[in-house]
Amino acid sequence: MYVCICNAVTDRDIRAAAQAGVTSFAQLRASTGCSDCCGNCESLARELFDEAAAKPVRSLGLPTFAHAA
Ligand code: FES
Repeated sequence: MYVCICNAVTDRDIRAAAQAGVTSFAQLRASTGCSDCCGNCESLARELFDEAAAKPVRSLGLPTFAHAA
């Protein structure tokens, strides 16, 4: 769904940004344009971002290997 109508930012965009390493709402605003116009979307955008940022990055279930010294 569209969260920020002014800049066509969706809930998926916000979750994707959080999963890609965006760590603050200021970074989200800079990278997506979310909430940088009228500001009507800010409370919902912050709620979605905080929720997404609090979730651990989903593992692909692939094995990890230790680096040899
Ligand atoms: S709806 Fe997001 S800045 Fe206007």
